[in-house]
Amino acid sequence: MINRLPLIAGNWKMHKTGDEAVAAAKQLKPLVAGAKDVEVMIAPPFTALYQVSTEIKGSAIGLGAQNVHWEPHGAYTGEIAPNMLLAAGCMYVIIGHSERRQFFGDTDQTINRKIRAAISVGLAPIFCIGETEAERDSGKTFYVLDKQIRNGLEGFVLQDLQALVIAYEPVWAIGTGKTATKEQAQEVHAHVRRRLAEMVGQGFADQLRILYGGSVKPSNIKELMAMPDVDGALVGGASLDPVTFSQLVLYKK
Ligand code: 13P
Repeated sequence: MINRLPLIAGNWKMHKTGDEAVAAAKQLKPLVAGAKDVEVMIAPPFTALYQVSTEIKGSAIGLGAQNVHWEPHGAYTGEIAPNMLLAAGCMYVIIGHSERRQFFGDTDQTINRKIRAAISVGLAPIFCIGETEAERDSGKTFYVLDKQIRNGLEGFVLQDLQALVIAYEPVWAIGTGKTATKEQAQEVHAHVRRRLAEMVGQGFADQLRILYGGSVKPSNIKELMAMPDVDGALVGGASLDPVTFSQLVLYKK
């Protein structure tokens, strides 16, 4: 029996100042204190990370960042290095989100470097993949995902990837209210796991957590999480309100 601890992660994107983020984290703490057999993570903007890490210390909530640079330091105006995230209290970092690919020039190659940099300091990468609506409609979903996976993880060996999490976020489902059906999510997740088994080994693939992201909300999380290869959720809009997010974390109840 394979036991993958579900991860419910909130990506706050470009929302909340430091004080607003702390207030939300403070409200969230008691709401999720009773959560069992599930891991909880929130990813506030960079400017709120340190404050939030102080607020959630000793609680069940983990901290993540939304992006990282691949170099450890240097003349990269506006960028944040992996060890800075670690020092701010992060355990996780989201890498290759479709909004980064779409608006900020992230490519499979830079994503590969970012994953390597995150791993080098002990941050767990949440590696995002996903197809656009046009790609799905033209039957290219698996082709696109395979390419993202192959390039994003090129050159890694088993021991590099112990902390890896993959998030499948179909671009057409992000912030649109359109969720992948549970069958669509399961089909892709099972495919991704098979690919990882081929690339890195069955044992690794069996314990790899694959999150679903894209319009996850209290009304659909239960059926998504019931699918055998869905191991958690990466949540945008519905993670901003602590009460709603706690309902996602407590999806089993
Ligand atoms: P929504 O939950 O708002 O659709 O966003 C999903 C997402 O992009 C999480 O990273």
